[in-house]
Amino acid sequence: MPHRLTRWGLGLAAGLCLAQAPEGPRILRPADQSALPAGPLSVIARGDEKSQLLLDGKPLEAKRPFATVLTATLAPASGPHTLTLATAGAEQKVQFFAGPKPPAGFQPYRPHPPAAATCDTCHAVKDGEWGFKGTVLSENCFGCHNQKTFATKHSHNEETLAECQLCHDPHGSTEKFHLKMTREIACKQCHG
Ligand code: HEC
Ligand code: HEC
Ligand code: HEC
Ligand code: HEC
Repeated sequence: MPHRLTRWGLGLAAGLCLAQAPEGPRILRPADQSALPAGPLSVIARGDEKSQLLLDGKPLEAKRPFATVLTATLAPASGPHTLTLATAGAEQKVQFFAGPKPPAGFQPYRPHPPAAATCDTCHAVKDGEWGFKGTVLSENCFGCHNQKTFATKHSHNEETLAECQLCHDPHGSTEKFHLKMTREIACKQCHG
């Protein structure tokens, strides 16, 4: 049905802007205002060669799986914390709370299990850029998630679903099922 496809096509084009993470240096995990259980926290940031991560103002020793990609595993004390990504004069800050009884305003954040799926489960450096393993993102997901039970939870065909990151944040989320935005907005990307 060409008419419906066109509508979806347009909706998808508009939705892509909505779905894409803002360009530039950014802390990708955890989300701002996250409440996290006590215990190790795997941080992910996109910066440049000189970017630095700071926890509560103190520089962190970050690993760089690629020149512009920073990761660190923290063990923050219970309480509120500020994570900063400092890049050439600009700073991005994320507030998070570790441990039980987060104050109002902090949303429980669930990381995608970082020990089960490590960076190179999904990522690879390709043509000198930080990119993805394989040609289709979903190849990496079905190594662990059952494609059969998966289909019963999704009302879409395989083609529509192939780009998992349209709806899911593969690093984790404060939304159920690691959705990257509220369910309502996730659907409106294409179903205007
Ligand atoms: C389960 C798969 C998966 C795992 C595991 C994963 N990522 Fe990602 N990552 C993605 C996807 C998918 C995107 C694209 C997200 C989007 O487009 O919204 C992404 C985006 C990124 C980006 C932004 C790239 C850009 O140019 O905007 C960086 C940086 C990144 N990941 C680093 C990491 C690091 C470091 C780790 C390990 C600590 C990691 N990722 C683990 C799937 C994964
Ligand atoms: C069009 C949006 C959308 C796309 C694209 C999408 N998902 Fe989902 N996914 C959802 C929603 C919504 C739920 C919650 C379903 C429910 O309420 O039971 C979900 C649930 C899940 C779950 C948890 C339920 C289960 O079956 O275990 C997994 C895992 C999952 N998705 C993986 C994936 C993977 C892998 C891809 C890419 C191949 C993908 N999703 C693509 C929207 C999407
Ligand atoms: C190395 C194994 C592995 C890979 C690869 C992997 N995951 Fe997962 N994923 C897990 C585990 C373990 C969990 C936590 C247990 C669960 O909820 O099923 C999880 C949880 C999830 C959930 C939340 C399920 C829920 O019920 O809330 C979503 C959504 C999800 N993964 C999406 C993806 C997507 C999208 C990809 C590919 C980009 C991917 N995963 C790749 C192991 C993996
Ligand atoms: C990436 C674009 C995209 C997103 C995001 C999206 N859909 Fe769809 N949806 C489609 C397309 C294309 C079809 C028709 C082809 C198919 O079944 O995949 C469809 C079909 C459907 C159908 C089958 C019934 C029908 O009208 O033909 C349902 C139900 C549905 N979507 C619900 C949802 C829900 C609920 C969400 C949010 C979790 C969602 N969609 C998000 C693109 C999308």
